[in-house]
Amino acid sequence: MTYQVRIEGTEHAFEAEEGENVIAAATRAGLMLPYSCRSGTCGTCKGEVIQGAIQYPDGLPPAIDADEEGEGKALFCQARPVSDLVIRVAEVREAGDIQPQRLPARVERVDDCAPDVRRVFLKLPRDKRMPFLAGQYIDILLRGGHRRSFSLANAPHDDELLELHVRHMPGGIFSEYVFTNMQAGALLRFEGPLGNFALREDSDRPMILMGGGTGFAPIKGIVEHALHIGVARPMHIYWGARSRQDLYLESLPRHWEKLHPSVDFTPVLSEPAPEDEWQGAQGFVHEQVLADYPDLSGYDVYMSGPPPMINAAREGFVAAGLPADRLFYDSFEPGRD
Ligand code: FES
Repeated sequence: MTYQVRIEGTEHAFEAEEGENVIAAATRAGLMLPYSCRSGTCGTCKGEVIQGAIQYPDGLPPAIDADEEGEGKALFCQARPVSDLVIRVAEVREAGDIQPQRLPARVERVDDCAPDVRRVFLKLPRDKRMPFLAGQYIDILLRGGHRRSFSLANAPHDDELLELHVRHMPGGIFSEYVFTNMQAGALLRFEGPLGNFALREDSDRPMILMGGGTGFAPIKGIVEHALHIGVARPMHIYWGARSRQDLYLESLPRHWEKLHPSVDFTPVLSEPAPEDEWQGAQGFVHEQVLADYPDLSGYDVYMSGPPPMINAAREGFVAAGLPADRLFYDSFEPGRD
């Protein structure tokens, strides 16, 4: 049995499975409703049921009282539809709609994916979740007030684990830890989500998404989100790296390209190793974008990478006709990671 849930005043509707709460069903459909604890205690997810009926599996949750329930209020992280619903709730559309939180997390696993890149997967405590938009980042909080920022490489619908791509920076306080001592089970604290680098869903222009090195991480999150919600706009993904081993998840964009006619993938190497026997594009990644798209006036461009790449690309892309307000970027210092 499934139920239709419609958000009043919008064209957005989604299906909830029997026994599935409203927040989980909305997230599965690629819609973001406000939430925080997902355990019925904080009240962030409170909204109204305009039509239809809901049930709570374990009685009224702590963050709502009987009077509020009588007025039609509901906690959507706990409420299960038992009929089709029309609800009133403020959708999260922009990064500014989400309050950053400070949260603990446990390292679930660390995967080697290149000699100097590891993927770190973090798990939040059982009663905590962090709403975020694909492409945003978190700050790992370190001793002495230090912070290290990492883009979220997973999409919001896939938030069981938070995925970070960490490049080894010799001497870097956090990256040395990741590459030497970090074990599954280690505890961290972080603040997030941060930043406003995220997919603009209100556009129908084709997209160019360019990542440099581990700047591929937020591009991965954005593309996975876009594919999940059925965005059919063309997406041309460029990934710039030094040599082939630095394309540490190369099979993933190749897989998207094979599966989705709207996706193209062009890896660009600046210093291919002889053993790479590289036949593909070479040079600076933004120059390859400009060679392929000399007129960018009809595009949205998303890019993420180190400042020299971002600065050079920004100048070149605007000169190629890209309106400045259609250029979205996340520039990170190597020290940030
Ligand atoms: Fe906290 Fe629902 S009560 S998210």
